[in-house]
Amino acid sequence: MARSIDCNKLTFSLYPHAHEMKMYESYYLNGKWDKGAIVDFHDIPLSPAANVLNYGQGIFEGMKAYYSVKGKVVLFRPEENAKRFEKSAYKLAIPGMTADKFMGAVQDIVKANIDFIPQCDDGRCSLYLRPVCIGIEPLLGVRAAKEYLFYIFASPVGPYFDKVGIVKLLARNINRASPHGTGDAKAVCNYPVTMRPKQEAIADGYNDVIYLDPIKNQYIEEAGAANFFALMDNGSLVTPPLGTILPGITRESVIELAKKIYQMKVEERDLSVDEVISRARECFVTGTAAIITSVSDIGWNGKIHNINRNQYQLAHQLYEKLINIQLQKESDPFNWVRVVQ
Ligand SMILES: Cc1ncc(COP(=O)(O)O)c(C=O)c1O
Repeated sequence: MARSIDCNKLTFSLYPHAHEMKMYESYYLNGKWDKGAIVDFHDIPLSPAANVLNYGQGIFEGMKAYYSVKGKVVLFRPEENAKRFEKSAYKLAIPGMTADKFMGAVQDIVKANIDFIPQCDDGRCSLYLRPVCIGIEPLLGVRAAKEYLFYIFASPVGPYFDKVGIVKLLARNINRASPHGTGDAKAVCNYPVTMRPKQEAIADGYNDVIYLDPIKNQYIEEAGAANFFALMDNGSLVTPPLGTILPGITRESVIELAKKIYQMKVEERDLSVDEVISRARECFVTGTAAIITSVSDIGWNGKIHNINRNQYQLAHQLYEKLINIQLQKESDPFNWVRVVQ
């Protein structure tokens, strides 16, 4: 029976009744994936020597299912998550799986948890889906595991940042990823380094950190779980280039909208914190969970810089457009929305 989930109370955290929900799991043993199955949400038995616990061989994805205004359960560009999962797997020597297996599992997990999809008309709440793949073989020497678990769990969620939709970010001389490393994969090993900086930024009154490039320590890479954009004084929309950052699906969608719907000039190039502070009219971050969240201030070199000279107008415009497409309130010119059958 459909749960009555109060969207106003949902935050971006694991649902307290997750144990009443279903999860998907599939094992890779003896060189092949099994069929996979929907099971009750449960703890995972792992050897203390499991590869993921000792050497961090694990990847994940983040996607969301929600009701559109047409009353359909939909997903946003799930094929892109399947592709990124495959690329992340390759980078960490995790065995691949067909896109059909990934997509089938995603559809199954949504259907199995259909009663937990929040009903919300502004797109801020959804059923967040977390596909994960981890090396589970017990081992001691450093090498890729021979056994894996691919699972997906789900949780009704609200906004990633607080409900206001505006954040203060602290630019810090801290690197999340290095060239030729794993920054462009959604690998679990990329996230522990962000925990202390984020904790310290929050203690200082910020919401998150802007990580900088590892060579000059002055160019913006991305926030903890979102990509960065700045509208410059000449009207161009600038975002850091791919390479060490996560190739966000929302990032790519925003670039398409800005270029093709609003005929804006979009530049993917190095963007220093100093340039943003002196030239940006408006900044925002993008992500499946963050959607499009405006940035009011950036802390840098001991000072707080207000960078909202445009009343968040572009972020609002792009947010409305993206959400309207996602919720099927408007036509879907790029064919991004998939109905769960
Ligand atoms: C480090 C990082 N950057 C960017 C993003 C945004 O990516 P997407 O738009 O695909 O959710 C995420 C979230 O998944 C992330 O973890």
